[in-house]
Amino acid sequence: MAEFSASSVITQQRVIIPNKHGEKLVGSLHETGSREIVILCHGFISNKEDTTMVNLAVALEKEGITAFRFDFSGNGESEGSFEYGNYSKEAEDLRTVVEHFNAANRVTTTVLGHSKGGDVVLLYASMYHDICSVVNLSGRYNLTRGIKEMLGEDFMEKINKDGFIEKMNKAGTMKYRVTKASMMDRLNTNMHEACLNIDKKCRVLTVHGSNDNAIPVEDATEFSKIISNHELQIIGGADHGYSLHQAELAVVVLRFIKSVLQECKDK
Ligand SMILES: *[C@@H]1O[C@H](CO)[C@@H](O)[C@H](O)[C@H]1NC(C)=O
Ligand SMILES: *[C@@H]1O[C@H](CO)[C@@H](O)[C@H](O)[C@H]1NC(C)=O
Ligand SMILES: *[C@@H]1O[C@H](CO)[C@@H](O)[C@H](O)[C@H]1NC(C)=O
Repeated sequence: MAEFSASSVITQQRVIIPNKHGEKLVGSLHETGSREIVILCHGFISNKEDTTMVNLAVALEKEGITAFRFDFSGNGESEGSFEYGNYSKEAEDLRTVVEHFNAANRVTTTVLGHSKGGDVVLLYASMYHDICSVVNLSGRYNLTRGIKEMLGEDFMEKINKDGFIEKMNKAGTMKYRVTKASMMDRLNTNMHEACLNIDKKCRVLTVHGSNDNAIPVEDATEFSKIISNHELQIIGGADHGYSLHQAELAVVVLRFIKSVLQECKDK
């Protein structure tokens, strides 16, 4: 496997886009001059500097494809309050970003999201039908799962009693706060229903690591059944963050994005 690094010289522009609530979203534009643009969305408790986001943006740029990675509101450098759930707010942030580039006469050909961002890009595609392809990296199918592992068996009792749960880290300081509204938003976000509303013409790539301990690979096949234009790629041995598989991930994602590019241009 060839060496893969994000340290090559690249032209990155800092772009600030206010969302519908007046909060400033901060992003990095890897400008190649292409009219087509790919937007990269980070996951839960993450930001645009995530290794996968940076490496994929660099890989796209090397292929002459402009990439934009940004922080959702309440994350990284962007303004606003952190949300455990509120998937639709993140989809709205993404809407603001797409509209920003539309206004500059650019074409967003692919929205790519990792983990929670994977669900956000799928929600986006179910709400707005102006995207011709979606990449779902290790997103979750069933959002009612995986909560007690993080917050304890009695999370619902706690949140009903106090109105929130504070997740502590090992040092005993608060890592993040889950409000009841945000929890209910997660529990009420139905990815199955959302995906039924994705345009039949929209191509979807799902990538998942076979060694993902955060979100198991098992349900990754669920959606192939209901999304007509769906492709599934399992990366053998990869974990949730693709920590040892950045190069393999880039190969799979680039192949897909390049294959849809021409179709998207023609639309
Ligand atoms: C999601 O998981 C919950 C809990 O395991 C289960 O009751 C529910 O049927 C699942 N929903 C779907 C759509 O698979
Ligand atoms: C999600 O965020 C929006 C915008 O800040 C807010 O109006 C809404 O109440 C939030 N929803 C939940 C469930 O917290
Ligand atoms: C997104 O990826 C996850 C993890 O591989 C998978 O469980 C889910 O079914 C995928 N969703 C869709 C709509 O492909």
